[in-house]
Amino acid sequence: MNPSVLSVASEIYPFIKTGGLADVVGALPAALGHQGIAVRNLVPAYPDMMRQIGKDATERVLTIPELFGGVSHVLALRKDGLDLFVLDAPHLFDRPGGPYITSGGQDHEDNWARFAALSKAGALLAEGAIESYRPDILHAHDWQAALAPVYIRFSASHPPVKTVVTIHNLAFQGSFPFEVFPKIGLPDAAWSIEGVEYYGGVGFLKGGLHAADAVTTVSPTYADEILTPEGGMGLEGLLRGRGDRLTGIVNGIDTDVWSPTADPLIAKTYTAKTLKTRRANKRALEAEFGLLHDDTPILAVVSRLTWQKGMDVLASLCDQIVALGARLVVVGSGDRMIEGAFHAAHARHPSQIGIRIGYSEVLSHKVQAGADALLIPSRFEPCGLTQLYALRYGCIPVVSRVGGLADTVIDANFAARSAGVATGVIFSEVAARPVLDAIAKTLRLYADQPLWQAMQKRGMATDVGWATSAARYAELYRDLTKDVTP
Ligand code: ADP
Ligand code: GLC
Repeated sequence: MNPSVLSVASEIYPFIKTGGLADVVGALPAALGHQGIAVRNLVPAYPDMMRQIGKDATERVLTIPELFGGVSHVLALRKDGLDLFVLDAPHLFDRPGGPYITSGGQDHEDNWARFAALSKAGALLAEGAIESYRPDILHAHDWQAALAPVYIRFSASHPPVKTVVTIHNLAFQGSFPFEVFPKIGLPDAAWSIEGVEYYGGVGFLKGGLHAADAVTTVSPTYADEILTPEGGMGLEGLLRGRGDRLTGIVNGIDTDVWSPTADPLIAKTYTAKTLKTRRANKRALEAEFGLLHDDTPILAVVSRLTWQKGMDVLASLCDQIVALGARLVVVGSGDRMIEGAFHAAHARHPSQIGIRIGYSEVLSHKVQAGADALLIPSRFEPCGLTQLYALRYGCIPVVSRVGGLADTVIDANFAARSAGVATGVIFSEVAARPVLDAIAKTLRLYADQPLWQAMQKRGMATDVGWATSAARYAELYRDLTKDVTP
């Protein structure tokens, strides 16, 4: 029998998204459905979530009289193909700002309580709090859900459920001061190496990585990188100890949402056979960003503007990019200094550099359809999804050789070009010179249009869907439950 899965996460596309986590959590259930695995998804009732599910969320399946300072309910509904459990805890989630930060840009100061609550609710559901529902697996995503396996591991009722933690980004660990420990409702035994104790404080992710029956991350290369002092961010020792219980499963994308042949958000749909039509999207992008119409390549960014993404380096190269004869379009937000540097570059080159600071799902599609190449100079990248969207849209990815970027793009070096397998450009070091060299190489490839178009077509034909990776998750779930499911 196929195991059933309770997924616990702080974001889910299309309801609430700050990054790739939401895309993955939103797309995996359907892909697992094709493997015969039913997934239900527990997520917090942020105001945005409630606005979208409002009238559909009538079924209260569980009341928790006291959850970190107030009464809370779990609502159940099916919407947009997803089976949702929504944690309605107004004292924790009904407030302005984003899922993690206030409107002023600071972390919500009770994030420890908000996500301990999410995890606790997940653990309760997994332990059978609703009579008709007994999942075989609890799958926790990132630190915000990582206490769920800890609650289960230290539960007096020893529920038979198995647990998986997926690391989407080790840079965010949910580390809090010791004072939080007495408030999160774990027994004293959890204040230990096997529990949540982490350098004298409380580590949500650390605890989850220890407690989970299996740990996964979102690409094979990142699974190797996090075992090193540089990539492990303090957790490499613990992760090395997990041995073969740590696997890297590369993310896929939702090929229905991201499909150039049927995308309602782009100026003109196209296929690999009608690549010429793609030009209409380039024209639309130029108009959108006030760039002059011409045939020089448009390089693009759709990203958080942060150090992780190497955006400081890219922002320092704008003048050189223009001098090389290319244009640049940036959609993103993040570090104020980096935003400022891109703004200043736009002011210097208004018809070659277009900037949109903020978050826009619509623009992110328009960029993938209209730009010639997508720049992703990440210092580390657990998987990355934008390079996968780029491949699918015939926008050539130009990426650093890290994590999932290295696992999903094939560099146009001599061997790959000779073998006819190149899909993008890869460079090794995230610093001004190598990034600029990679951009110059990209422009040389662009000048050879037959070669460029062959790369576009190959990218568009690359399998970036979820089927293969969903099968790997299914195999992991089956493996974990083979001794316990009848
Ligand atoms: P990360 O999760 O580390 O930010 P990913 O590449 O996995 O990186 O996922 C980023 C997701 O967020 C993609 O779906 C991308 O299109 C989207 N995204 C990032 N910045 C923006 C933005 N400014 N506007 C719209 N979508 C964005
Ligand atoms: C994180 C990572 C990104 C990954 C995403 C989804 O946000 O930074 O590389 O693609 O999670 O797994």
